[in-house]
Amino acid sequence: MCGIVAYVGKRRCRDYIIRGLKRLEYRGYDSAGFICVDEKHKRFSYFKKSGKVSDLEKGLDGFEHDGFVGMGHTRWATHGVVNDCNAHPHFNCKKNISLVHNGIIEGYEEIRKKLIFEGHEFVSSTDTEVVAHYFSSIFDFYKDLKPAILDLVSKLKGAYSFVLSMEEYPDQIVVVRHNSPLVLGKLEDEIFVASDLLAFSDKTKNVCFLPEDSFAIIKKDSVDMYDFSGKKILPIWQEVKFEFDAVDKQGFEHYMLKEIYEQKKVIDNTINFCRLIGTDSKLSANTKKDNSVDYKIDLEYQDRIWQQLGLSLKQVKNLKKVNLVAAGTSWHACRIAQFFFENFCKIPASVYLASEFCYMPLFNHEDSVYIFVSQSGETADTLQALRKVSPLSIPTITITNVPSSTMVREADGFFPMQAGPEISVASTKAFSSQISVLYLLANRIALEKGLISLEEMKRAEDDLFVSAQILEQSIENYKYKITQKLANKYSKFDKFIFLGRHISYPFAMEAALKLKEISYIFAQCYPAGELKHGPIALIDKSTPVVLFSSLHEIVYKKIISNAQEVKARSGHLVVFAFDGQDELINLANTSFIVPRVNPFLGPLAMTGLMQFFIYQITKKLGCSIDKPRNLAKSVTVE
Ligand code: G6P
Repeated sequence: MCGIVAYVGKRRCRDYIIRGLKRLEYRGYDSAGFICVDEKHKRFSYFKKSGKVSDLEKGLDGFEHDGFVGMGHTRWATHGVVNDCNAHPHFNCKKNISLVHNGIIEGYEEIRKKLIFEGHEFVSSTDTEVVAHYFSSIFDFYKDLKPAILDLVSKLKGAYSFVLSMEEYPDQIVVVRHNSPLVLGKLEDEIFVASDLLAFSDKTKNVCFLPEDSFAIIKKDSVDMYDFSGKKILPIWQEVKFEFDAVDKQGFEHYMLKEIYEQKKVIDNTINFCRLIGTDSKLSANTKKDNSVDYKIDLEYQDRIWQQLGLSLKQVKNLKKVNLVAAGTSWHACRIAQFFFENFCKIPASVYLASEFCYMPLFNHEDSVYIFVSQSGETADTLQALRKVSPLSIPTITITNVPSSTMVREADGFFPMQAGPEISVASTKAFSSQISVLYLLANRIALEKGLISLEEMKRAEDDLFVSAQILEQSIENYKYKITQKLANKYSKFDKFIFLGRHISYPFAMEAALKLKEISYIFAQCYPAGELKHGPIALIDKSTPVVLFSSLHEIVYKKIISNAQEVKARSGHLVVFAFDGQDELINLANTSFIVPRVNPFLGPLAMTGLMQFFIYQITKKLGCSIDKPRNLAKSVTVE
């Protein structure tokens, strides 16, 4: 989604800003812009264009201006179509104030009407331009930056972070944050600004996260920071350790393919990380005379994992309900994990879509916990959901891949996923990493509650190791068949139905989402049991039905019935089954067979194969796999 990069310092900024924008490209955008205060004339010099950052870069060729103060932006259209004019920066009428902005200004139309009435002329259809004009009219009244910003933020509604530059103050910028992240980086006589610290993590790791509801007036050697009441606040600078440096494709054709193949390592790392912070390093195993193993527990380590999560051991033992909140692929991972918590910990687990959660009544259940699961830790809906729960006395935990994210800073506890940077917009390894973390967490809670033994916990970990191996091995088993035959065959269909039952239903939802988002093929997913309540009317030869099996015996029997329902109507059946499920396999036009695993890890074992199949279909269609149209990696608006 939109990205901001800005600079004030002793060097010329253009190259850095373009590089920074490129580092944010993976988030998804449709236009880009650059502006600087020209070093010779102290006037704005800018260029903006719909398309890629490389188009912006080409447009800047022969553009001689550069400066020591500048801003860049990648826009993901929300208000106004994708065109050069709607790209950022935006200006006031005199074009001596400019602004790049992330977020959405609510009620901007009213402000716009009022400003038009006062004589302002608008050139774009964006909400951002309204802020530029609005600030200009407020500044004309105060003639002073600080009161003008305070007045502006008291009037703006919605979510925003923006950087503002004025020709009148050519050696400084103003940064403002409300419900949308901004981070500063510092070197001697240089300040970097970005909406995501990946933009400058190759320059400095000395960073300050602009606090919520604050702004700063920034010069190359000073940062004057204030909260929205006008009180001065001290910037907190910290060294970040965990951030990603730019990653390349390491020989893979796409990031998505590379990330599919990284999943085994990610799951192994997740298990090892959990052991490190409290699972296995606390175990000492003594082999007894009868060769059975006697595991002992070290209480100091035992507490560590819960401290990390912001929970006391007592709270864990007394836990009576788990609430999971997420969006997109992360929500599918939570829906799978619901089965873990309910079956291993014997407590109810509710899973909420973050975008819906905000409108639901909130019940202050004692002995419950809210877990917010987000690859980026910045998804606006999930963050708003966290903020809705935070004032209550219920513990909040963030599970994310980005330790420096806003959700980590705002939740009581935090569990870092071990996925490493996920660049492809379509999530792959973050999904398997989330399933692994939640699986281990549910087992750990079951252990504390006395529902499983240490040996069973160990076995659960071993099962996860095995599933990770199968995830990777299954891709290899079908690689030839998929690339030589199946990808071509299935790329010719223009719609698919996906079915799953029990734990394979949320997995089928994830498969349908993957197909839609990267190949643009229409896909609809249903719980298999609902087939006969309507979707069965859609079954015909030209609509493949992709059915995901289960290792739960009763569920499997029902899945066979669903497969028969499809075949009885001459449907085209593709099944993802497990070894030995011959009755199902024999009904299929195409089958993928995966070795048996712990039934709760069935979806994880099939994950690599499902993603690889969909990736190869998409490749045949020639779509932009890593950056699908209209999508953003980090969705920072509600
Ligand atoms: C976007 C991405 C998805 C992701 C979802 C939630 O839609 O394209 O891949 O699953 O946001 O993101 P989060 O960072 O909260 O997991």
